[in-house]
Amino acid sequence: MKILVINGPNLNMLGIREPGIYGSETYASLVSLISDYCDSRGIEVEFFQSNHEGAIVDKIQEAYGVFDGIVINPAAYTHTSVAILDALKAVSIPAVEVHISAVNEREDFRQISYAGKACVKTYIGLGFNGYIEAVKFLEDYLTKKQ
Ligand code: DQA
Repeated sequence: MKILVINGPNLNMLGIREPGIYGSETYASLVSLISDYCDSRGIEVEFFQSNHEGAIVDKIQEAYGVFDGIVINPAAYTHTSVAILDALKAVSIPAVEVHISAVNEREDFRQISYAGKACVKTYIGLGFNGYIEAVKFLEDYLTKKQ
């Protein structure tokens, strides 16, 4: 099983960025947390972070035929990007949406998720653990699918 973990804009600033909302752990520690879990389960994992919408679209397209599942936190593009939604629909790879913060309790403009419309599951407000839950969900989902 091969999983691609995509993180959108400003998530490279974890640890520095609004620690009251996103915590004090860094992007590097998020990567090692997910890597450790995937290693323990024999799952191949690749990470991609970009601040650019088109680069995320390109990466999703390149995932076609390569990855079995996608975990995606599109960050601010969640609430704006029809292009990321369309890319997820185009490749039709089972995708799980993650948000570190409880977006449902935040500003009105965070209440819409375009990418989420192409995802089989969403985890919000669980901190970094949301990514682990997303991988676990995909493990189960992909195993049942085969
Ligand atoms: C976020 C929530 C988004 O609204 C925000 O723009 C982010 C991070 C989260 O993980 O909680 O950058 O996706």
